[in-house]
Amino acid sequence: MGSGPSFPIVPMKRDKVILITGANSGLGYEIAKWSAMMGATVILACRSESKTKEAVVKMNQEFQDEKSKRTSQLSENTTLALEFMHLDLVSFESVTNFCEAFKKSGRKLHVLFCNAGLGFIPYQKTADGMEMLLQVNYLSHFVIIAKLLEVMQQSGPDCRILLMSSVAHQWGTFDLKTINYSGPPDRFSSKNYYGRSKLYQIMQAAAMGRRISGSNVTINSIHPGVVDTPFWRDWDSGIRKCLLCCIKCWVAISSFEGAKCSIDLTVNPKHAGVNGLYWVDFKIVTPSSDARNKQKQEELWETTLELVRPYLTEEEMKRINLRN
Ligand SMILES: NC(=O)c1ccc[n+]([C@@H]2O[C@H](COP(=O)([O-])OP(=O)(O)OC[C@H]3O[C@@H](n4cnc5c(N)ncnc54)[C@H](OP(=O)(O)O)[C@@H]3O)[C@@H](O)[C@H]2O)c1
Repeated sequence: MGSGPSFPIVPMKRDKVILITGANSGLGYEIAKWSAMMGATVILACRSESKTKEAVVKMNQEFQDEKSKRTSQLSENTTLALEFMHLDLVSFESVTNFCEAFKKSGRKLHVLFCNAGLGFIPYQKTADGMEMLLQVNYLSHFVIIAKLLEVMQQSGPDCRILLMSSVAHQWGTFDLKTINYSGPPDRFSSKNYYGRSKLYQIMQAAAMGRRISGSNVTINSIHPGVVDTPFWRDWDSGIRKCLLCCIKCWVAISSFEGAKCSIDLTVNPKHAGVNGLYWVDFKIVTPSSDARNKQKQEELWETTLELVRPYLTEEEMKRINLRN
């Protein structure tokens, strides 16, 4: 399975449910495929049904290829248990409908992988009045976690929430007064606001980790490396194109290599109980000083609750805020 550390193949039953946002492409695709190849039911929470259907066909083909290589302990089923559910993180209404549909299905939820994300996009405001990167990368996932936490708490031991963050969290300024950008569009720094959204995820893992510590649910954040995926599409023109070529030639790793640590944290039983930490390349790593500042983590937590309060019930607010 390539060079360097890797994940074990962990046979899972179909009643193990793994939900991955943005699973039709890049890192999410690899995490979904490998989880399903080990036997789990994987919910692909994506905004495009057609793209996701194509991904499902490709995953099944790659499953057959892997079987013909005689990779041991893969699922004995003939097809993978992959299910599309519509989710558009740009809208709290879509997020709410998605969570309602998931709850109605009566399924358990063992792993919630908040992977989907946008990169270096120009300033855009969502219909909910939020800066796009803030809502798609951070707030919508926060709302999903708050809404599905009850299901996870009732899904038996060792349930995991994973947040796909980035080393780019170091580029993000911690300034809660400007958390929802409202300045002139041409002064907007996508680098800074992308970095902020990733910083918030690491801080969320720490702050929420404290609240759910000792329970059956854990939360961790991950940097996958610099990975050659469609994530870089916004750099594919102008002067950034040259930089992108260099990144792809010299630095970037494949989606599979980039997903390995995430797959390990999804399936490896040895990570049961590991909570509130930031992972890079199979190791627990110390994030930036802002990211690990407890007071700032708690300030962000309070500000986030204020921003998402209109989209959560009182019960959901209480549940996510309760300390064990
Ligand atoms: N690639 C890297 O070097 C790198 C480094 C550090 C961290 N990351 C993080 O890794 C995660 C996955 O990125 P990737 O590299 O695998 O890129 P990717 O292939 O572009 O995957 C991003 C996924 O997010 C989905 N998405 C975007 N907006 C959405 C929305 N409004 N609602 C629902 N889904 C939405 C995309 O769906 P569509 O296909 O429909 O657009 C796609 O499935 C991101 O959170 C990113 O910040 C990536």
